[in-house]
Amino acid sequence: MRLLSIRLIVSLIVGITLVSLASSYYEALGEQTGLRRDLERRSEVFGESLAGNVEGDLEKDSAQDLQRIVQQYGNREHLAGLAIYGRQGNLLAVTPDLASTLATVPSVMSQALRENHGAGEFQRVGHASLHIYAVPLHQHDEVIGGLAIVHDSGYIRAESLHIWRQTFLRALAHVFLIVLITLLIVRWSIAGPIARTAQWMRALRTGRSSSHQNANDLDLFRPLVREVAAFAESLNQARSAAETEAHLRESGESLWTADRLAVHVRKRLGNGRLFVVSNREPYMHIRHGNSVDVVVPPSGVVTAIEPILRVCDGTWIAHGSGDADLETVDEHDRLRVPPDDPRYSLRRIWLNKEEEEGYYYGFSNEGLWPLCHIAHTRPIFRAEDWKCYQAANLKFADALLEEMKDVEKPIVLVQDYHFALLPRLIKEKRPEARVAIFWHIPWPAPQAFDISPWRRELVEGMLGADLIGFHIQSHCNNFMQTVDRVLEARVDWEHFSVKRLDHLTLVQPFPISVDFTDVEQPESTQDSYVDRSALRKNLGVESTYMGVGVDRVDYTKGILERFLAIEHFLEKYPAYQGQFTFVQIGAPSRGHLKNYHDLMVEVEAEADRINRRFQTDNWKPVIFLNRQHSHQEIQSYYRAADLCLVTSLHDGMNLVAKEFVAARHDENGVLILSCFTGAAHQLLDALQINPYDVDQTAEAIRCALEMSPEERKLRMHRMRKNVREHNVYRWAGNLVAELCELRLDSSDKSTDGPRASTAAWG
Ligand code: G6P
Repeated sequence: MRLLSIRLIVSLIVGITLVSLASSYYEALGEQTGLRRDLERRSEVFGESLAGNVEGDLEKDSAQDLQRIVQQYGNREHLAGLAIYGRQGNLLAVTPDLASTLATVPSVMSQALRENHGAGEFQRVGHASLHIYAVPLHQHDEVIGGLAIVHDSGYIRAESLHIWRQTFLRALAHVFLIVLITLLIVRWSIAGPIARTAQWMRALRTGRSSSHQNANDLDLFRPLVREVAAFAESLNQARSAAETEAHLRESGESLWTADRLAVHVRKRLGNGRLFVVSNREPYMHIRHGNSVDVVVPPSGVVTAIEPILRVCDGTWIAHGSGDADLETVDEHDRLRVPPDDPRYSLRRIWLNKEEEEGYYYGFSNEGLWPLCHIAHTRPIFRAEDWKCYQAANLKFADALLEEMKDVEKPIVLVQDYHFALLPRLIKEKRPEARVAIFWHIPWPAPQAFDISPWRRELVEGMLGADLIGFHIQSHCNNFMQTVDRVLEARVDWEHFSVKRLDHLTLVQPFPISVDFTDVEQPESTQDSYVDRSALRKNLGVESTYMGVGVDRVDYTKGILERFLAIEHFLEKYPAYQGQFTFVQIGAPSRGHLKNYHDLMVEVEAEADRINRRFQTDNWKPVIFLNRQHSHQEIQSYYRAADLCLVTSLHDGMNLVAKEFVAARHDENGVLILSCFTGAAHQLLDALQINPYDVDQTAEAIRCALEMSPEERKLRMHRMRKNVREHNVYRWAGNLVAELCELRLDSSDKSTDGPRASTAAWG
């Protein structure tokens, strides 16, 4: 740093001095030229005006008069003297001091006499600098002699030297001031922030600081600070991953982490590449006025798949549904995401209004969604929607095939009920690709599936896959029975596989989960207290107990049943009136469909009705927050709540239940969970309820609020252990391992039957 400062100072001094000298040189030169011109002009004016006087005396030929004139005018400023010459250049009169200098006719005088007009020149005579101006003298237009005006021009040089001296001193002062100011700027704006940044980086390196740095005083370094913060974040993650690993080695546990999944997938993929296809994209670009916001949509699929793509750097193909999506892709409709920390590629597919209407709203959400969820909403199957569904599957298949074009061993994970036809479309073109479809929603009993007019085509499309995954065994069983009922195929109940037209498909349960890798942490109740009082303040209610529900507003989630249960609970246990508030976070969903729109209105009205019945000045029983909340916002509700209510009428898995458990570092809080969710098969320590049984749910609320702290802790501890061990990394690891390890050669499979599952669900 010191060496740098010295170099900086020397460069500044040299630079500024050179610039000052150059500018002084031109300034002095200009001044000198000005003074010379001024002297010439003065000589000329004086010479011309004096010539008239001299001409008379010269005519008279009076040497005495001539000498008088010479002496009379010879004492003006800077005037060295005068001399008068005759026609032949003979000296007639001269200022005595100049007698010797002007004894010989100056060349300028000869020139003036010869050319008959005034002429001037600067001359050096001995040590003196002179300016001589010669004027011809006339009689009747005839040249009769000449007058020489002689100035001492030495003052011009003295003046120039003075200017040089002044400029030099000024330059010196400039150098001093500029160096001083520069050093102060460097110290305050550069050296200081650099030192603080270095200090912060040292603290990061030694793990004594967070990656967040207050960059207010680091204006100049903001881009650097941002980069370092991102770098530090990765460092922290790597550090905590290493700590987790160390902890796991120490406790002998075998936990799935992001790093483990990355290694696992890379090992299995070799030079293959992972492709994910889903309808919903992980990042939507939404226009808000003049700016564009990045939004993560509320979707179980996104929650589960995003962490996997982050560690495997594959390609995710999804519908570009944000209104600013088109502006944010490259010419191949791709972009790297997450936008602030790019890890994998997102390829967006564009659907026009009609396609989206038929494929997404119509066939997927009015047909398949209610068909697979037993929530007593009648499925609607329209032939036009079916056409759109087929066309959209084809469109996604084409894009996927294009993305896979140069990839030797593609591994494809197709997501959900929007793409039942995709596996077959892919395998027809790329039989060597390994394709799995994961069905994120329940698969109904075969008789229920019968009502779909295109049940055969749907099942056939899915059987194009090498592996079909459901959340739980009973969904697998339902699917196998459906195949048996609608198609000619060999359904192997021993190995859970289906063989159709020489192609073999394994059908397996893979219970999806959340990104939960924390090892046991010392109890931290701090967060929940902070969260709870901050939330209460924001919501403007005073209540001792708080419950939370987090859902897309969807008729399968049992939100109305939940509200009825809360009402019944307050009715049955009036002591809790004024004491218990339930916060329902309801993300608007599929609002374009009438029944979703009506449901939103109904849920709001129901919350109002219950509130009107019980509310007081500073308390109400139900707070309905009908907007999408960020992950962080939801986390604080989870941590602050005494209980979480999941009352789905039917749900493939339900990740809210697992997110709630994962959020409870304090091992507190009670989960009330519908027995009709996939999660209920794993979270046996939740209070399980039938959401249609309002009284049972009300009892569960009471039981949760009155449960002893020991029991709450024990139940939450066991559920956390389960979710930690069966996290989303394990889900993905098993799915990918199963897909990568199965044999694609059907003749092999026909003799041996499929290989037993390698998934270790332990
Ligand atoms: C369920 C489905 C997902 C879907 C999500 C949100 O979890 O299984 O495929 O993405 O709901 O619904 P949306 O229609 O908004 O994508």
